[in-house]
Amino acid sequence: MRVMTKIKKTLAQAIADRRATPSFDGEPIPMEDLKQILEAGLHAPSGYNIQPWRFVVVRSPEQKKRLRAASYNQAKVEEASAVIVACGDTDGWRRDVDLMLKHGREGGMPESYAAQVKASVSNYLSSFSTEQMRGWLNKMVMLSFTHMMLMAEVMGYDTAPMEGFEQEKVHEVLKLPMSYWVVALLGVGHLKGSDKYDGGRFEMSHSVFAEEYGKPLK
Ligand SMILES: Cc1cc2nc3c(=O)[nH]c(=O)nc-3n(C[C@H](O)[C@H](O)[C@H](O)COP(=O)(O)O)c2cc1C
Repeated sequence: MRVMTKIKKTLAQAIADRRATPSFDGEPIPMEDLKQILEAGLHAPSGYNIQPWRFVVVRSPEQKKRLRAASYNQAKVEEASAVIVACGDTDGWRRDVDLMLKHGREGGMPESYAAQVKASVSNYLSSFSTEQMRGWLNKMVMLSFTHMMLMAEVMGYDTAPMEGFEQEKVHEVLKLPMSYWVVALLGVGHLKGSDKYDGGRFEMSHSVFAEEYGKPLK
């Protein structure tokens, strides 16, 4: 991965500062910055390194307007400088397993492991029901999504993750292949007006256990 040049915050600062941005100023985002954000997403880990994510970057005013209509009329879809529509491809693994193994071999993947992975990817993923496949894609795509969200924040942008959209309508607006499953939308840009309230988070004792359920981590 290319070494990043535009870094405005540490990762720890970005995590601490990030808010789900309520409203964007709509200023265009340079393509170079957008690509740096997308590169971070493409660099995420995934099961078997299958990289089943696919992204549609929406920047044109007309397309953002249509996407807004497919997203319960959320104004930030239209206001964001760019909306990254994060999808998973249910068939991606069938097409991509050989390319993934080629890259792996180039990076030093042992031949014995390559043969084993090819068989096990197919055994594992071809047995999935539609629901299981969507669950698996959600895991993978959200990891990549989070990489992009935090990279954008580190670069000084504001972001808005969104699950409020209608699957079929987004499919229609973006002319997505049938094998695509839309996971989430990421608005990227700069905050307009004041930020949302801080909703706070649960204490560690509420959500974290030590060794087994119910035991506090001390
Ligand atoms: C996957 C995901 C989907 C979300 N979808 C929406 C959405 O459609 N519309 C919205 O206004 N906020 C959405 N949010 C924002 C959450 O409400 C917000 O992250 C949460 O209230 C915590 O606030 P904070 O992110 O500012 O700390 C979403 C957040 C996530 C992580």
